[in-house]
Order: sequence, then C-alpha cells, then structure tokens
Amino acid sequence: MQPTLSDRDFIRLSQFIQKNYGINLTQKRQLITSRLSTSIQARGYDDFAPFVEHLLTTKDQSEITLLLDKLTTNYTFFMREKGHFDFFQNTILPNLVEKHQKDKTLAIWSAGCSTGEEPYNISMYLMDYLGAKASQWDTRILATDISNRVLEAAKKGVYELPDTLPAGWKQKYFVPAEDGRFAVAPVIRNNVIFQPFNLMSPIRFQRKFDLIFCRNVMIYFDQPTKDALVRRFYDATTPGGYLLIGFSENLSLNSPYRRLGPSTFQK
Ligand SMILES: C[S@@+](CC[C@H](N)C(=O)[O-])C[C@H]1O[C@@H](n2cnc3c(N)ncnc32)[C@H](O)[C@@H]1O
Repeated sequence: MQPTLSDRDFIRLSQFIQKNYGINLTQKRQLITSRLSTSIQARGYDDFAPFVEHLLTTKDQSEITLLLDKLTTNYTFFMREKGHFDFFQNTILPNLVEKHQKDKTLAIWSAGCSTGEEPYNISMYLMDYLGAKASQWDTRILATDISNRVLEAAKKGVYELPDTLPAGWKQKYFVPAEDGRFAVAPVIRNNVIFQPFNLMSPIRFQRKFDLIFCRNVMIYFDQPTKDALVRRFYDATTPGGYLLIGFSENLSLNSPYRRLGPSTFQK
C-alpha cells in the first residue's frame, strides 16, 4: 500500500524545503508521494509522518540532498541552449577578453551546474577562443550545485557524447573511457572548480563574476526567491558583466539587469 502524506506533513515539508532551498513544492504533492514512497519504505518507514519528522530534525545534509535529488531534475546535456554558447563566443568573449587584456583573468560561474556538462562546455569554448594564448590566461570556472551526487559525477567527467558537439571537439577535448564513453580531457577538466553551494546562501566568493550561467535552476523557485537571488547575482557581478538564464525563464520587469536578448542580461 502506498504510504500517505497528511496535509500537515505536506505543509511542513514543503515549507521547510522552500525556506532552506528555495524550491517551491506547493503544487507537487503528487510528485512527492510518487517519488518518495519507495525511498521511505526502503528506509524502514511505513508512513510519511516519521520520515518527515526525521528529515526536519536531521543535521545530516546528505539526507536532504538525497530528497532534493528525487524532487528536482538534474537533467542537462552538452550544447544545451546553443544560442547562449554562440552569444558567448561571438559577443561576450571578445568583449571580456578586450576588457581583461591587462590582468588576463576571467571570472565565470556555472551556478546549478548539475553533472558538469555546462561548465565543461564553457571551458571548451574558452579554450577554442583563446587557442595558443589560453595558457597566459586565468579562466578557471567556478561550478556549483547543491547536490553532492551530481558534483561527484561532474568531477569524474565521463559521458556519452551527443552528435551535436562541434566538429573535432571529441578528438580535441575528450579521451576514450570504458563502455564507449568519453572522459573530459585534463586541459578542460583542470579549468573547472566544482564546489557544493546552496543558492539560498549569501554569495561570498572572493571575486565578482564577469559572467554567471544560472540556467534551468530558478524554474523551481517562486518569484520572491528568484528576485532575491537575482539581486544577489547582480551584487556579485562586475559592471558590464553578464547573466544567462534558461531559454524558458525570464526575470521580473524590475530586475536590476539590462536585457540584451532572450534570457541574456547585462549589468
Ligand atoms: C536542471 S539542472 C540545470 C543544469 C544546467 N545548468 C543546465 O541548464 O543544463 C538544475 C540544477 O539545479 C540544482 N539546484 C536546485 N536548487 C538548488 C539550490 N537551492 N542551490 C544550488 N543548486 C540547486 C539542482 O541540483 C540541479 O542540478
């Protein structure tokens, strides 16, 4: 029999997740019941009540991220929303490279990087653009996610490759791994730093960012949570720096960023 989720526990759980992780589950009661039933039974609980009690009181962060993994999607892939990469290559990179001719440092953040395809993809575009000059530049990409599970996979960096990669990239930027899969080459991998980070937290990284990718992450957040995060991104962006969000997303009209095009913004 499927365990039941009482009104009280549903409200407690969704308020807890909303407050601490920004994820809005108010319309997701059915999803919670269907996705979590097996997990709670596997842990020896026969109903939601003691499980919810445990989650709300445990200090074990990994229990919570396991729950978030079930309720959100980590779906991502190389060359996703390629229009952004075209804009990065044709407009953002020429602009940033000129701006940083002296310090030769670019600060880029992939916020909500999931299993790593997005930051590695950025790293490949950087390498392609800078060519032989890449070694003179510090272009290390910060890549963060709340889920340790996806970060572990990202650090491994082994993938099945799609046909959509630009010609020659498979040979240049990957090395064959087991089972017909491919590992990201060291030159690309060493340019990405993975770290756990909850986007609900204050942003206190050492540097401000020239470019933030936060694509297909805020879809889970309600409007006030989104607006507050965008404000924090803005404060963490250099003047003239960029924010890219998912193609299906938008910012509030009163967002501090200037809109350059679909899901593309500048400070
Ligand atoms: C659908 S993936 C997006 C991956 C990539 N940016 C892309 O567009 O393909 C969304 C990621 O956001 C992460 N995420 C959700 N809520 C988060 C939060 N509060 N803090 C940090 N990451 C979060 C999830 O763990 C997930 O890996």
